[in-house]
Amino acid sequence: MRTIAVIAQKGGTGKTTISCNIAASAHNAGLRVMIADMDPQGSSTDWARSRQIPGPSVLPLKLGSLFPAQYTAENAGVDLMIIDTRASAPADVVAAAKAADLCLIVVRPTVIDLRAIASTVDVLRPLQRPAAFVVNQAPCQRLSKDPVMVLEAIELLAGYGMAVAPVGIRSRLIYQTAFTRGLSPREAEPDSLAADELERLWTYTLGRLWPAGFRRAPRKTLLADYHADQAMPMPPAGAWMTGAQPTMAAE
Ligand SMILES: Nc1ncnc2c1ncn2[C@@H]1O[C@H](COP(=O)(O)OP(=O)(O)OP(=O)(O)O)[C@@H](O)[C@H]1O
Ligand SMILES: [Mg+2]
Repeated sequence: MRTIAVIAQKGGTGKTTISCNIAASAHNAGLRVMIADMDPQGSSTDWARSRQIPGPSVLPLKLGSLFPAQYTAENAGVDLMIIDTRASAPADVVAAAKAADLCLIVVRPTVIDLRAIASTVDVLRPLQRPAAFVVNQAPCQRLSKDPVMVLEAIELLAGYGMAVAPVGIRSRLIYQTAFTRGLSPREAEPDSLAADELERLWTYTLGRLWPAGFRRAPRKTLLADYHADQAMPMPPAGAWMTGAQPTMAAE
């Protein structure tokens, strides 16, 4: 099992949106996915409960339950646990990051968000966990060009010495309308630009979690159920490969 912590000390950056969409992508790729909802607001729990079709399981939990829940999930054959954290809770961020194989720091390309990101980096950096910034709610391109604020944001984030996910997520209404139905834009509108950028974000995430390709780990305690150990093909390598420049999908 691998674990992702989706974090940002700032509120409203899109932690829950990113958590649920990566969870849906992983589920649709055949992984057994669990969202650990550490936010008492319960937004990702609401998302999972609104869903009318099979999908990731969701577990609302508090800080003290995180490590037991992770242990139980692994033993139950979960492939991917995604921890959706709350804002302004450094202790939660530390615990989630320590539990994680990959930390995704969600940030909007705005002055206010970019100023606030330093506090998240300060909490995360001493832990030395694999991490990447995910730029969310980026304004769409004009005349095939990214607004200067987006380019400057990517440059500033890269300056922290952490990876910037090579695909950003734009501000699009479909993220909000799909969410209310417990869906991802990839499910609600498979041919949309949002679906395309989410697919690329999932490919990047998958490559960071399983560089040699996803392979289901055997259950630790329930060895009698070991039949589920089957390899899944890795999606074709894309722009997420090491050294690629961060890019944003066209509008
Ligand atoms: N890419 C996007 N395009 C349009 N709207 C978005 C996008 N990402 C998030 N939103 C909207 O922004 C708001 C905040 O998003 P979300 O709840 O995911 O943030 P959060 O970081 O989890 O917030 P909190 O800190 O309160 O937990 C929501 O209304 C959500 O629908
Ligand atoms: Mg949230």
